[in-house]
Amino acid sequence: MKFFLDTANLDEIKRASTWGIVDGVTTNPSLIAKEGNPIDEQIRRICDLVDGDISAEVVAATHREMVKEGRRLAAIHKNVVVKCPLTREGIIATNELFNEGHRVNVTLCFSSAQALIAAKAGAYIISPFVGRLDDMGQDGMELIRQIVTIYQNYGYATRVLAASLRSTNHVIECALAGAHIATVPFKVLDGLFNHVLTDRGLEQFLADYNKVFAETPVGV
Ligand code: E4P
Repeated sequence: MKFFLDTANLDEIKRASTWGIVDGVTTNPSLIAKEGNPIDEQIRRICDLVDGDISAEVVAATHREMVKEGRRLAAIHKNVVVKCPLTREGIIATNELFNEGHRVNVTLCFSSAQALIAAKAGAYIISPFVGRLDDMGQDGMELIRQIVTIYQNYGYATRVLAASLRSTNHVIECALAGAHIATVPFKVLDGLFNHVLTDRGLEQFLADYNKVFAETPVGV
């Protein structure tokens, strides 16, 4: 499973990149706005930091405008994946961009019927939002399972990118469900490292080692 970072913050991207486990980045208009730089500039900077798929979302309302915007975003860098919303206009734009050879991440997916439409339109990635469904009292992970099964049934090449993930458990459940990609905020990616028994075990190993080799202590 690929790990994408769900952020437009350069410091977070730089820090996480040093771990060698970041395969790409997803952004959305809210995340871009938080950083305060124009989208093209911010996406260019992100592309300089991570060599992988970088999703940049259109903000236009009509498919014509979305296509124009999509072309502009795709021209920023070869790794840019244009993000379109799962609306009628967004799907028309997805299909047009796909026919032009651009890669599209269809976002704001909340049902498997929507995911089927996106695949038929030629989406490169579908982004079902797990956490936001959970917030509504629905089972977000069940949506991931359904989409993975439906795509497998028909051999769609569209990648399932589990979005709106909030915890380590979400990531594990997505991996079990067969999602191709999990996009997570920095805090969630950082949290995947943690286990109290790792910390305790390491402390004990070093203490035992240093008791015997006190003159050449390690890790002190
Ligand atoms: C995905 O591409 C979205 O940017 C993101 O996962 C949304 O997550 P949120 O529901 O935590 O805002």
